[in-house]
Amino acid sequence: MRQEERDMAVTIKTADEIAKMRVAGRLAADVLHMIRPFVQPGITTGELDRICHDYIVNEQHAIPAPLNYRGFPKSICTSVNHVVCHGIPGEKILRKGDMLNIDITVIKDEFHGDTSKMFFVGEPSIPAKRIARLSHECMCIGIDMVKPGSRLGDIGHAIQHHAESQNCSIVREYCGHGIGRVFREEPQVLHYGSPGTGLMLEPGMTFTIEPMVNVGKRHTKLLPDGWTVVTKDHSLSAQWEHTILVTETGHEVLTCLPGDEI
Ligand code: MF3
Ligand code: CO
Ligand code: CO
Repeated sequence: MRQEERDMAVTIKTADEIAKMRVAGRLAADVLHMIRPFVQPGITTGELDRICHDYIVNEQHAIPAPLNYRGFPKSICTSVNHVVCHGIPGEKILRKGDMLNIDITVIKDEFHGDTSKMFFVGEPSIPAKRIARLSHECMCIGIDMVKPGSRLGDIGHAIQHHAESQNCSIVREYCGHGIGRVFREEPQVLHYGSPGTGLMLEPGMTFTIEPMVNVGKRHTKLLPDGWTVVTKDHSLSAQWEHTILVTETGHEVLTCLPGDEI
């Protein structure tokens, strides 16, 4: 098989590979749990990156996947307020009223775990709370539909419908993705779509669901740093992400700590 064909295929993970995905997923979730108390007014996104990097490398003995991925310069993504995704940690100081997405991907034993969630700095505004909650609902609606025989178009449609029913919008330029030995592999998991279309799910597939939901219009702009994606209208944007396994009977969320809620 040629390399391009191998990259295009949707991989079905073996039991052994799934066991490794569970470990990587748990480690990624654990980083989000660890960083929670550090998200306080006055800290910089660069400091959050440093703390996560050191934890992943020194405590988890794992690899932060974003670092040097296609030239990304840091170990985590920090996307504040109107930043949609792929925010680069740096000098930005977090202030009361800010909200941010922290996106963690770790590699352990060659397999990836990818998860992100929203954090509030101090008390959130009503629109911030609302969009964070809506994007979480969108992710959960998608996750709940994952089972053998479901189609990706149905999942995308349900996510899109929920966001738009609340007069918010789904970002289209970025999507969820297959994941395993490779950070971002087939299939593309769009957070919008048409019922009855798209890939039919089978046990052993692993992919992320990570809807980006905007308070305003769906359009985005890429900043000159080549990574940071912002809303064109500067409206707030929120995102949550989990790595999901399709099982014989439904799904398993891989990026969860035992006993934790999704
Ligand atoms: N973790 C991100 C995702 O969910 C990808 C980040 S790519 C990076 O797909 F290079 F910006 F880290
Ligand atoms: Co992802
Ligand atoms: Co991610």
